Amino acid sequence: MSENTVIELKKLTKRYGYGDTESFALKDFNLTIKRGEFIMIMGPSGCGKTTLLNIIGLLDRDSSGEYVLNGEDVASISSKRQARLRAKKIGFIFQNFNLIEDLPILENVALPLVYTGYTKTARLKNASNALKRFHLQEREYYFPYQLSGGQQQRVAIARAIVGDPEIILADEPTGNLDSRSSHIVMEELKAIHEEGNTIIMVTHNPALTVYATRVINMLDGHIDTDIKTVSDANLPQPINVKIMKKKSKKNRRKK
Ligand SMILES: Nc1ncnc2c1ncn2[C@@H]1O[C@H](COP(=O)(O)OP(=O)(O)OP(=O)(O)O)[C@@H](O)[C@H]1O
Ligand SMILES: [Mg+2]
Repeated sequence: MSENTVIELKKLTKRYGYGDTESFALKDFNLTIKRGEFIMIMGPSGCGKTTLLNIIGLLDRDSSGEYVLNGEDVASISSKRQARLRAKKIGFIFQNFNLIEDLPILENVALPLVYTGYTKTARLKNASNALKRFHLQEREYYFPYQLSGGQQQRVAIARAIVGDPEIILADEPTGNLDSRSSHIVMEELKAIHEEGNTIIMVTHNPALTVYATRVINMLDGHIDTDIKTVSDANLPQPINVKIMKKKSKKNRRKK
């Protein structure tokens, strides 16, 4: 496996039901994702896009096959460590924002940091910085219902990146937004990508594929077409890869 590979899926299968009711959301799905790719996944409703993101994001499990994340077979990782990996390495953005309605947006953004061991003050400070990046610092104490859809999605992006994850998963992040808000959200994702992060995004909007380095069309649980528009050599380099490597070595020693 090349050093730049973040995700490797081998013959990944997700099956629902048994016997006569058996159906496959994913079937023998193979995919290798390099660090710094911005992948857009398209395909008709029901072809398995959300299932794929949920498995990659460790929110769901495959029925068979292999999922290798940063060189580790996910099946061999305890569910406790999976939860920690998910909190540290993966940020999620959903179509309907998924913010908690009775928490101010500052606390919404701070939520993924609960697993990191930061103090509450440090968590809120980080959340505040993330909101600043998306020009929402003056609304920290607003509740989600007091914001427009575009603003809510920017809060959700702030929440997705607050813990500095390497992988951002976005399931139709602009699906509920008007074209102006979509554009703003896409520009934010573009900036996050240019910092060397890996983004996997599902969309029904072909116009957005201009932001992608690779476009995958799915059909009935498998890849129909897979087109790279940027060569691997020209993907953005992670800014903080050295620091990350040092950290993980130290962590390994601790155990
Ligand atoms: N819990 C479940 N039980 C049974 N079948 C399921 C379940 N979840 C998903 N499926 C099936 O898996 C298939 C893939 O669903 P998935 O949600 O991944 O599609 P999708 O490509 O994201 O569609 P959309 O574009 O509408 O969001 C569908 O046929 C769906 O009915
Ligand atoms: Mg879906």
